[in-house]
Amino acid sequence: MRMVDLIEKKRDGRELTEEEISFIINGYTDGTIPDYQISAFTMAVFFQGMTEKERADLTMAMVHSGDVIDLSAIEGIKVDKHSTGGVGDTTTLVLGPLVAAVGVPVAKMSGRGLGHTGGTIDKLEAVKGFHVEIDKEEFIKLVNKNKVAVIGQSGNLTPADKKLYALRDVTATVNSIPLIASSIMSKKIAAGADAICLDVKTGAGAFMKSLDDSRELAEAMVRIGNNVGRKTMAIISDMSQPLGYAIGNALEVKEAIDTLKGQGPKDLSELCLTLGSQMVYLAEKADSIEAARELLEEAIKSGKALETFKLFLESQGGDASVVDHPERLPQAPFKLELPAKVSGYVAEITADSIGTAAMILGAGRATKESEIDLSVGLVLNKKIGDKVEAGESLVTIYSNTENIDDVKQRLYEHIKVIDKKVDAPELIYEVIT
Ligand code: URA
Ligand code: CA
Repeated sequence: MRMVDLIEKKRDGRELTEEEISFIINGYTDGTIPDYQISAFTMAVFFQGMTEKERADLTMAMVHSGDVIDLSAIEGIKVDKHSTGGVGDTTTLVLGPLVAAVGVPVAKMSGRGLGHTGGTIDKLEAVKGFHVEIDKEEFIKLVNKNKVAVIGQSGNLTPADKKLYALRDVTATVNSIPLIASSIMSKKIAAGADAICLDVKTGAGAFMKSLDDSRELAEAMVRIGNNVGRKTMAIISDMSQPLGYAIGNALEVKEAIDTLKGQGPKDLSELCLTLGSQMVYLAEKADSIEAARELLEEAIKSGKALETFKLFLESQGGDASVVDHPERLPQAPFKLELPAKVSGYVAEITADSIGTAAMILGAGRATKESEIDLSVGLVLNKKIGDKVEAGESLVTIYSNTENIDDVKQRLYEHIKVIDKKVDAPELIYEVIT
């Protein structure tokens, strides 16, 4: 087989076979096919697209380019959740213990964050003593015992995707639905998921800004999953404004605790119940999405979800007393308010800009090497559609310095208050099964 012939075939819009796709991915992984040929190939895919069969074959070729995590020693159907990323997205912290409380095994491999706020591991490390440096045997034992555990990323997962993503980044070929969908799905499958629940974000703070693009991506991923034998569902949810109120690591742990108590922000709680219901259903712990939701609501009401969170923190060395004493989480030295300049209705809280403001405070990483401050961040006091009086606080800023004029100015620029009534945006646009 010659790579040049395969580039030509794709350039002319013909369908590649499974063998041909494996040849490309294996050759790129082992270095026998050079970057310039893969660049031409990804550009051909960008313009010609890929058939459903090609997308599934590409996904599995990337899965097999490296290690595949074997979770078969964990009892039950392992359902993984994936979010395409947003600002103040506290769902993973809530969903882990919540679905575990109804018997769904959550074997989570997580990373650190880049940008807006930390990743799941950073957030959990706001709990004193909590650590993810556990070995595989301990990880599996914990999931079997508590139904939830988190381990740091290890091993050589989807090396083909790592190389390809870096190359796409510099050849203007990131924005291709078949390439994005296979990239995301390959990582989930290599991490050992039997079933996958996807939260595709849409709006200013999301990777996909328009609903049409978000829908196309969600449908592409659901089809790949189902075509390669992993039951997959997706929802499309709003990321025009940050999710919940809190943006920042310790602040989001507190928000997750509130949500597990049934006292969380309305949007975060609803999103967790919606995604959680799909996870419980995919794990075959309920016969319908409605029955799954009832189980989750009961786990919150009975305190079982909160107990599971405590057990999970404790089992990985964390100080579980933060659940009853959130003041024991890292506290920022300064708590400052952002008063509204005029009365009216909140019309915009641009998610990505608010995320950047939290990052400037120190809640996120500008580069992979940056240190983050787990205590700092923002708590929104108003969301889109809320009425506000001049002088009332729009945002509470948790900071390690009083000198935050740049952050305040950024927040004022991206939180618009107008004098006309505004409707709150829809939270969940679509459910795709
Ligand atoms: N996220 C990924 O993991 N892969 C892509 O291709 C785009 C976003
Ligand atoms: Ca939040």
